[in-house]
Amino acid sequence: MAEDYRQASLDIWEQMAAGWESDRRGVWESSRPVGEWLVGALDPQPGETILELAAGVGDTGIAAASRLGTSGRLISTDFAAPMVEAARRRAEELGASNVEFRTMDAEQMDLADDSVDGVVCRWGYMLMADPVAALRETRRVLRPGGRVAFSVWGDPAANPWASVPAKAFLDHTGGEPPDPNAPGIFAMAREERTRELLSEAGLEPRRLEHVEMVWAFATPDEHWHYVMDLAGALAMVVRSLPEDDQAAIRRLTEERLESVARPPGYGLPGVCLNVLAE
Ligand SMILES: C[S@@+](CC[C@H](N)C(=O)[O-])C[C@H]1O[C@@H](n2cnc3c(N)ncnc32)[C@H](O)[C@@H]1O
Repeated sequence: MAEDYRQASLDIWEQMAAGWESDRRGVWESSRPVGEWLVGALDPQPGETILELAAGVGDTGIAAASRLGTSGRLISTDFAAPMVEAARRRAEELGASNVEFRTMDAEQMDLADDSVDGVVCRWGYMLMADPVAALRETRRVLRPGGRVAFSVWGDPAANPWASVPAKAFLDHTGGEPPDPNAPGIFAMAREERTRELLSEAGLEPRRLEHVEMVWAFATPDEHWHYVMDLAGALAMVVRSLPEDDQAAIRRLTEERLESVARPPGYGLPGVCLNVLAE
């Protein structure tokens, strides 16, 4: 089962890379408080080696790399090769020369024990088939005294941009709600669950904070484009339906978000659980 999930997830994320690359700027701008919290908490120092896991198109790690100087190094990784290539293009565009890129599964890292000073991972661990395996691997590659800063999505009710279309999909198709602990966008939303996973992996939380952000969509159209082109598994299941069903889910989503969206434009709130652990 876990192997099937890993393969399906890899297929999905390979297909999502183009959308993430073309929407990079909007995603980074809307989620800036989350990304900047992570870089601040990680506090990268000149000369250190920092590993980014599930880096996607690489922005959080690249922001950290600017603090590492020429003697430091960022290892930017993702299990989806097209994401790694997009991150490489971004680093080249910015002239970031202290970054190395690798296609790597965070659950099984091709890195030596005690080889990095810090790990950063935004919106990654909750998607993994076995998050404890990934957190244990994180601990293994961290040098003694090393730290990990990561972000996962918080309470579904506080993240209507994702929970509303997901519920509209279930209501329209009559599907069963997934097990809340199964891998997916909200699998680590509960603070207690995240603490349990950290403890199983032998990591100690030092900071756990809810960080708010607003997706600055201009219109309902833009939000729907995000759902269809960037939202991982949800995007794939909705896209696999006949057009009439997609249109019905879209209508339901728009009706339910009407009272939630805030100006300017069509701003939709989000909350992440950000963690610094050692
Ligand atoms: C929601 S995106 C987040 C991307 C990026 N971290 C960001 O914040 O913009 C999730 C990323 O996790 C990656 N991912 C999922 N499971 C992974 C795994 N087991 N190992 C490495 N990367 C993984 C996907 O390929 C995708 O790029």
